[in-house]
Amino acid sequence: MRDLPYLVTTSRRTDPELVGRAQAWAERLGMPYADRADRSLEKFCAEEGVEAALTVTSVRVGLVIPADGTEYFFHPSMARTRIRNTREGGGDPMVTAMALQPGDSVLDCTLGRAADATVAAWAVGEDGHVVGYEAHPLLAALTIEGLASYEIDGAGVQEAMRRIDAREGDCREVLPTLDTRSFDVVYFDPFFGRMVERSDAMKPLRRIGLHEPIERVTYEAARRVASRAVVVKQRRGEELPGVPEPANIISGGGSRIEYLVIEPAR
Ligand SMILES: C[S@@+](CC[C@H](N)C(=O)[O-])C[C@H]1O[C@@H](n2cnc3c(N)ncnc32)[C@H](O)[C@@H]1O
Repeated sequence: MRDLPYLVTTSRRTDPELVGRAQAWAERLGMPYADRADRSLEKFCAEEGVEAALTVTSVRVGLVIPADGTEYFFHPSMARTRIRNTREGGGDPMVTAMALQPGDSVLDCTLGRAADATVAAWAVGEDGHVVGYEAHPLLAALTIEGLASYEIDGAGVQEAMRRIDAREGDCREVLPTLDTRSFDVVYFDPFFGRMVERSDAMKPLRRIGLHEPIERVTYEAARRVASRAVVVKQRRGEELPGVPEPANIISGGGSRIEYLVIEPAR
């Protein structure tokens, strides 16, 4: 895992309650807490000798990397729009690729901000089950917390977020421990090889997240764990290494994305 040294602190304007919350985050993450002492984040990081600061403010918890202007915090990205589109009959290519029905189970191996997992949790409904693993400890903690507490309107969106069973873990280690055919669908959305995100929203996640390649052995483990399909999101025209031959490819509509649908192991 790439090493990004950071400290936990508060906003400039602070109070004992905020300090307590920041200290609780530091303890949860096993990272040191440092007083902000009315310093800019540039000064704070320079003086403390770290690259980044996890700032706990009255509004949110986010990681700031002053040197390149990165600010990462949890939000459900396009999940609400995608759910609305689906509800209005427009469909969603990921849901189509997974052939999701109410009651299905989905294992998301690259949880990130859980936007895809939220759409999946909405599609499988209350009788379904979505489990997601995120390998980066800080991203995992922010997503676990965000899914439990983020408030958002839109029919069923917040409820879908709350239903996701989000965990910290590396899918390369987790998949071999899972029972054969224990999920209907196993899903991967690894980072693409090249920097393709047009949306600024994805850049901080790419900056912080885990980039180590997912290899054939992991996709094969996923084929054993899935009973219906392994679905892999990739950039159109770019072949992710190690991915087994897909039985079907679902286009991501007008976007440059496609979903590879791979059959489970027989
Ligand atoms: C492109 S993002 C996924 C975005 C996600 N689909 C969403 O809707 O927010 C890839 C995420 O997978 C995580 N990741 C990469 N390798 C992983 C692994 N082996 N196990 C678990 N998570 C991993 C990265 O840290 C990053 O957060």
